[in-house]
Amino acid sequence: MNKYFLFFLVLLFTFLGCTNNQKNDHFLNEDAHSYANFNDVRITHMNLSLTVDFQKNTLDGKVDVSVDNYTNAKQLILDSKDLTIHKVLLDNGVETSFTLGDISEIFGQPLTINIKPSTKVVSIYYTTSPDAEALQWLTPEQTLGKEHPFLFSQSQAILARSWVPCQDGPGVKFTYEATIKTDSNLIALMSAENGTSKNNDGVYTFKMDQPISSYLLALTVGDLAFASTGRNSGVYAEPAMLEKSVWELNAMQSMIDSAEQLYGPYAWERYDVVILPPSFPFGGMENPRLTFATPTIIAGDRSLVALIAHELAHSWSGNLVTNETWNDFWLNEGFTVYFEQRIMEKIFGKPYEEMLTKLGMGELEATIDDLIKEGNSDDTHLYLNLDGRNPDDGLTDVAYEKGRFFLQKVESVVGRQRFDSFLKNYFKANKFKPMNTERFIRNLNNHLLTPEEEQAININAWVYGPGLPDNALIPYSEELDRVESAIAQYNNNQIMANKIDISGYTTHHWLYFLRGLKNLDSIKMRDLDDNFKFTQTGNSEIACDWFKHCIDNQYDVAFPALSDFLIRVGRRKFLTPLYTRLAKTPQNKAWGKEVYQTARKGYHSVSYHSIDEVLK
Ligand code: BES
Ligand code: ZN
Repeated sequence: MNKYFLFFLVLLFTFLGCTNNQKNDHFLNEDAHSYANFNDVRITHMNLSLTVDFQKNTLDGKVDVSVDNYTNAKQLILDSKDLTIHKVLLDNGVETSFTLGDISEIFGQPLTINIKPSTKVVSIYYTTSPDAEALQWLTPEQTLGKEHPFLFSQSQAILARSWVPCQDGPGVKFTYEATIKTDSNLIALMSAENGTSKNNDGVYTFKMDQPISSYLLALTVGDLAFASTGRNSGVYAEPAMLEKSVWELNAMQSMIDSAEQLYGPYAWERYDVVILPPSFPFGGMENPRLTFATPTIIAGDRSLVALIAHELAHSWSGNLVTNETWNDFWLNEGFTVYFEQRIMEKIFGKPYEEMLTKLGMGELEATIDDLIKEGNSDDTHLYLNLDGRNPDDGLTDVAYEKGRFFLQKVESVVGRQRFDSFLKNYFKANKFKPMNTERFIRNLNNHLLTPEEEQAININAWVYGPGLPDNALIPYSEELDRVESAIAQYNNNQIMANKIDISGYTTHHWLYFLRGLKNLDSIKMRDLDDNFKFTQTGNSEIACDWFKHCIDNQYDVAFPALSDFLIRVGRRKFLTPLYTRLAKTPQNKAWGKEVYQTARKGYHSVSYHSIDEVLK
């Protein structure tokens, strides 16, 4: 070969290598749920300065966004929803023009800002709407203390844009700092470095030095107190809840330690949990450094703490290695349920974990049946197609439980040791980066699986196919087998409730029991309630499963308690199945609508949007 030609080839490949690398470094797959032009200009840092106004229910102030302009773009397109934009300045001085595009009910409006290729910082002055979908403003009466108002945000999946103009796709990561001004008798907390006590001036500053996605931006303001639960963990709650919460969550520090042993160092320094008022629409939300949690896990017997293991696990799967788009949601949740299962096994033992896993399979089977019945079989795939739809539609047990059982299958084929070391490397190699389904599978094939193993698992069937593949492991639990025989006898009318041996029953035995009951009638409902006092239970999970039977069997005795529950608790996972059952008969639907008239005011938008649909 001619040496000039060789030289030319070397140059060519160096050039191709560079552009290719450059592309790989920042290029993101298209995100159907964001208007942002993040492959041209990318947000790298945000500085928020906001005043919390409990009179108007607004946040008001500005955000300075620092950008990296890859393509000399002349426009920065951000996501926004229901925001009033007052003005936009470039590099802290010159005002620039901007436009807000057409309004989409799901996606909001693109905010298009004219910038220069040299622009480094864009300052956006804005006010949120009192109806901002991420934010819930609570009156003092809606809190435990009854004295102070309360605010919390819920940004996942695409609601961050309703309180911060941003590139609201999970693939974009940025660091942030913030100054939040509020009433002097309240404390503000964010998904960032937090203080532990109130300031006299009500001004709080925050720093998040690790890059995060917009769906992890979070703020809560209220009368909250702090208590430590260990070396780098603690709990915030309203003062009257604090002691109970600390007692309930005493396993937190050992969960962190176990998680680190499993998958490597915890990357976020502190791990704290804030117990919110009961209107919080989810069980938990993995806001970095500060998980937001429902008070319904404070059951008084520590039986619902798997939720903390779950949110903590997101500190690796989700917050470090993040689903690139909402179509890859299972990479966040499936990994996290698998990871949660491993933490629970380590701390509470195999029999406990087996109960959780078997309950999970029950939920998955029911969800798959429903989705297929509704003609939504495509939504039973792990890799979803949510384009044009609300990404909330992907929030089903498929991402969580089918995802978990897929990873469990991989583990069983390659052995725990190999799988663990693969996962540890995977988190290390991909930390602070987005991940998509295709790349993950390539990772599995390149770094873990032999061709035979690949065949035994059948990745395609799991990821791109419907339902539960027939090579799924069948969960086994000796504890729940005991319940199984009680269920069989009770369903076959062989025994009454007082003859059921309930010694050693925990919340999970009861849930399994309730879910297995069939052919109930008013006599049996009364028999169950007289013996087990389900209507009076203080355990929200048990209450929800019991109330389902109450509605299906028109057990009116429980309806006042059901009404209280629907008014007090705003967690969507409980509300949707209950209102859906109520909507099945005209009489119950009317009753449900009446309850909803009072309850709706107390719900976060995530919940009332869902229930509006159910009762319409
Ligand atoms: N990140 C989710 C909550 C979420 C998902 C909010 C998608 C909005 C859109 C959180 O980690 C979660 O999964 N919470 C569960 C609890 C868990 C134990 C399954 C919940 O809230 O029920
Ligand atoms: Zn989760």
